[in-house]
Amino acid sequence: MAKTLTFTCSACGAAHGKWSGRCDACGAWNTISEEAPLAAGPAKTSLGNRRGARIPLSDLSTEEAPPPRTRSGLGELDRVLGGGLVPASAILVGGDPGIGKSTLLLQAAAQFARAGLKAIYISGEEASAQVRMRARRLGLADAAVKLATETNLRNILTTLEAERPDIAIIDSIQTMWADHVESAPGSVSQVRAAAHELTTFAKRQGLSVVLVGHVTKEGQIAGPRVIEHMVDTVLYFEGERGHQFRILRAVKNRFGPAHEIGVFEMTGRGLAEVKNPSALFLGERSAPTAGSVVFAGIEGTRPLLCEIQALVSPAPQPQARRSVVGWDGSRLAMILAVLEARCGVGFAGLDVYLNVAGGLKISEPAADLAVAAALLSARENRALPADAVVFGEISLSGALRPVAQAENRLKEAVKLGFTKAIVPAGTKTGAQGGLKMAHFQDLGDVVGRFFGSAAPGADNGA
Ligand SMILES: Nc1ncnc2c1ncn2[C@@H]1O[C@H](COP(=O)(O)OP(=O)(O)OP(=O)(O)O)[C@@H](O)[C@H]1O
Ligand SMILES: [Mg+2]
Ligand SMILES: [Zn+2]
Repeated sequence: MAKTLTFTCSACGAAHGKWSGRCDACGAWNTISEEAPLAAGPAKTSLGNRRGARIPLSDLSTEEAPPPRTRSGLGELDRVLGGGLVPASAILVGGDPGIGKSTLLLQAAAQFARAGLKAIYISGEEASAQVRMRARRLGLADAAVKLATETNLRNILTTLEAERPDIAIIDSIQTMWADHVESAPGSVSQVRAAAHELTTFAKRQGLSVVLVGHVTKEGQIAGPRVIEHMVDTVLYFEGERGHQFRILRAVKNRFGPAHEIGVFEMTGRGLAEVKNPSALFLGERSAPTAGSVVFAGIEGTRPLLCEIQALVSPAPQPQARRSVVGWDGSRLAMILAVLEARCGVGFAGLDVYLNVAGGLKISEPAADLAVAAALLSARENRALPADAVVFGEISLSGALRPVAQAENRLKEAVKLGFTKAIVPAGTKTGAQGGLKMAHFQDLGDVVGRFFGSAAPGADNGA
């Protein structure tokens, strides 16, 4: 029989046969530690020959009504859930310490209670008095939410079974302790076991559970990724601590589209919905600025304009810096390589900083052209028109590729007062009232038109 794997990565949950400094599964450092095996006693190697019960099978075509949903009334939350809360579902809300998870979920519990659901909030890390103080500050002191402080999973399940709530919030999964597992709270085995018990209990009892999970970098306690596969919906609450904006992002949803985002603002009275996020992420842009380009993006089903900023400066060290916030570092490397190889614009000996304003994280390749334009604009110290939006994917050959949902992107640009769009040739457009479109076949044409050098195709009227 194979030796039991007893080393586990607390970031991704991968099992390893021996200790090592870096997890090959997720690349995290110092996250692997020895873990007591889940069940004591000799492991069974097969099911043996006792027969199971025969399970009834049904057709794919069997009629299934869409799940009934309850809207919280917090529109940004309902959107991310796929249109409201589905009964008997398990939701994981992950986020950095202090980002506002407890605030969000206390507000959500109060809203769901207002919508007629029975809501219970169980805190494993704050005293009830602390939670009540937060509720008072948020103006939710009279919300019909039941509260308890507990970490013992057995007691929690017994209580939920007796109380039969519609929604239970467990803040946080890392503080829960299942007494049938012999390892410390927060360890991979404990977090897995507690999440497993809670999600199966939720399905059986028809209640929805929301598990709060701290994202940790140190690897001392298990991160939320360890249980992502067990739950129906995985939401991450993101934002920069210094900024007031918070983004709730669906990275997995069995009951709705993934990649949907909800945008909030952290205020003294809790999280407020942001109904027009484009306006927020653009801030107070008015004068044309070198290195700043507005990208017309799509997040989930919603168009979202944001500012991409680049700074290029001579590198004091032999090894030039490439620093990215809010975008993919390897995608930046690719664009720099294409600019160099296909357009003759080099960045050797230059430090490059790229930043998506407002703490937003973008993953669309549609941002390629906006990133390239920001880099060029910073390098040449020449601004694009302040009232232009940019989008398009760049291929390794330097050709520009049209992207999905061009019309939605352009409509949002018009709505926010932009008058020009720089897009790949072949971009499908409808009647974009008053928007002047500049189509380009190739990244080299964009360089030629806006950033000087003698590239071909230089008369495109933007
Ligand atoms: N009195 C206050 N007035 C205004 N904002 C406050 C106040 N107290 C806390 N906050 C805000 O709420 C944030 C903390 O929110 P919350 O406790 O919901 O975060 P969390 O993600 O649950 O943190 P933890 O990791 O501690 O569980 C703080 O960073 C702060 O911005
Ligand atoms: Mg908290
Ligand atoms: Zn790992």
